[in-house]
Amino acid sequence: MKPITFPLILVNLKAYSETIGDRGEELARTAAQVMSDTGICIGLAPQFTEIRHLSKLGIPIFSQHIDPIKPGAYTGHVLPEAIASAGAVGTILNHSERRLGISEIELSVKRAKAANLVSVVCADSTRVGVDVASLGPEIVAIEPPELIGTGIAVSKAKPEIVSRSVEAVKRVDPNIAVLCGAGISSGSDVAASIRLGSSGVLVASGVVKAQDWKSILLEMAQAAENAWPGEDRC
Ligand code: G3P
Repeated sequence: MKPITFPLILVNLKAYSETIGDRGEELARTAAQVMSDTGICIGLAPQFTEIRHLSKLGIPIFSQHIDPIKPGAYTGHVLPEAIASAGAVGTILNHSERRLGISEIELSVKRAKAANLVSVVCADSTRVGVDVASLGPEIVAIEPPELIGTGIAVSKAKPEIVSRSVEAVKRVDPNIAVLCGAGISSGSDVAASIRLGSSGVLVASGVVKAQDWKSILLEMAQAAENAWPGEDRC
């Protein structure tokens, strides 16, 4: 299991056809190479079916969701312990494309902790960011839904959402890392995110749909390295 460090570039593969099967493996191997060349942590959140395989390739793997159930008679649910045993280090929760109620998020964060999974809880606004921060996740990801998949970066189009959210979440708990996402497509988008106080980015189409995975990941990782304020990557 690969530990995560910051700045973190977390790539959500969603249900994009570009990363199913061998192509997903190719992206994971490319990310592992860039991570080892630059020292910048690159995580992938693939489909559930790919977690066990991709987690052996040298990068931290996240689930896109877990259900807050305990082992037992639940059909069609995703058990946190099964995700951890497949090799994932963490899970995304409450993504705009997989929304949860606040009590479900609370239970899911608890179940993730019990299974040794890091929680990356998504929030579509600063207010929601503050609400979910009080539930004790390790990471909050701020993503305005109207910019998701547009190629218009939150860090440039709505920088105040990022900086305000970082401040507000850190007031709740300074140990929570804040990522930002939506429309991130270039190294300069990543650098802008980090200069606004974020600890990295949650990105999907800007990587998955890029012509050349190695060059976009390298561009993002180098930008993260140059913009990151401290030596400490833990
Ligand atoms: O989870 C990442 C995401 O929702 C942002 O998507 O395509 O705008 O990078 P995208």
